Amino acid sequence: MIKKALISGITGQDGSFLAEFLLAKGYQVHGIVRRASTFNTERLDSIYADPHEQSARLYLHYGDVTDGSGLRHVIAKVQPHEIYNLAAQSHVRVSFDQPEYTGDVVAIGTLRLLDAVRDYIQNTGQQIRFYQAGSSEMFGASKPPQSEATPFYPRSPYAVSKVAAHWYAVNYREAYGLFISNGILFNHESERRGETFVTRKITRALARIKLGLQQKLFLGNLDARRDWGYAADYVEAMWMMLDAADPGDYVVATGESHSVREFLEAAGDRCGLDWKSVVETDPRYLRPTEVDYLMGDSSKIRKTLGWKPKVSFEELVHLMVDHDLELALQELTLAKAGHKVVVRGSSHG
Ligand code: NAP
Ligand code: GDD
Repeated sequence: MIKKALISGITGQDGSFLAEFLLAKGYQVHGIVRRASTFNTERLDSIYADPHEQSARLYLHYGDVTDGSGLRHVIAKVQPHEIYNLAAQSHVRVSFDQPEYTGDVVAIGTLRLLDAVRDYIQNTGQQIRFYQAGSSEMFGASKPPQSEATPFYPRSPYAVSKVAAHWYAVNYREAYGLFISNGILFNHESERRGETFVTRKITRALARIKLGLQQKLFLGNLDARRDWGYAADYVEAMWMMLDAADPGDYVVATGESHSVREFLEAAGDRCGLDWKSVVETDPRYLRPTEVDYLMGDSSKIRKTLGWKPKVSFEELVHLMVDHDLELALQELTLAKAGHKVVVRGSSHG
């Protein structure tokens, strides 16, 4: 029997790594994609196959977690064994600008999916295992190191919504006996990270500055500390949670924390650039309430499921910088050929 997985948020950073991971494990992978006026499946390009081809094992379906009936149609059509709920308005600062929308997608979107799963299981008798993408942001102002036992103290509309989604998931597990696991993932980055998150904003900008395509990089709080891991390592943890004998909630983290300043230092070194001469502060990137210090204690998943991160902080910085230097080189070639290169990173996120 071929296992079928359905991923909401498949076009995002994690969705693309998870789809690759599951395809490599032999799964048939289905993804929910938002209708947009331009293609939003760029991160899936390397695994995309025309669904008309016999060998295709990746299928995309239009859908949106704000549209419950659409979600029910997709679930009925796909009949998945596993659902990974990764869809989110995932930018913390943007959630202060769009709190209601963020709540609708992140909190109520999760509830819509859970309720559709409950009904599907009751109506068909077929089981679905459910992964909920929780976040270390839920710990917010709680002191590090944060583990499954640490109280949630969310500091943004995004984080409050993730806490609600977490408890919806726990409630559906307990009330209906469903196999639902919450991952509480600390920050994880990659060469596919959205360009408005701080790590990628930095590597993209420093690479462009190095090649003369950009002059300055504007950032907010450089003192915030994060536990940064590599996204490909973290999607394996998601799968392990659904492959386990029992459902549960797990912190996924490296256990090492660095400040934004330290990330800049490491990225600047790799580029051969003095970051202090090009970075300026812009208060628009500050958050009304900040999360100062995240550092995870992931002993539970290490002991219970045998997960551990493979890529170190230094390796992560190097792979992101090297990737973005290559991108900048391509942009430079285009610029020299007379094409306009638009630098967006410094005015967003
Ligand atoms: P991401 O790159 O921002 O991807 C988010 C995905 O959600 C995209 O595919 C996006 O589609 C989709 N989406 C947004 N609104 C939607 C809606 N209304 N209906 C359906 N899909 C929608 O985020 P990520 O970094 O891959 O993170 C994946 C999940 O893990 C998110 O839930 C995030 O909150 C959570 N998380 C991330 C981290 C991290 O460090 N990366 C840590 C903890 C938790 P478009 O491509 O069309 O925008
Ligand atoms: N985005 C951004 N842009 N962040 C900046 C900037 C800037 O110009 N300057 C400083 N920062 C600081 C932020 O204030 C924050 O303290 C830190 O860098 C990390 O910001 P982000 O990279 O935007 O990530 P995040 O930690 O807020 O949220 C990410 O990780 C969460 C897990 O802890 C997102 O991926 C969330 O979806 C995820 O849940």
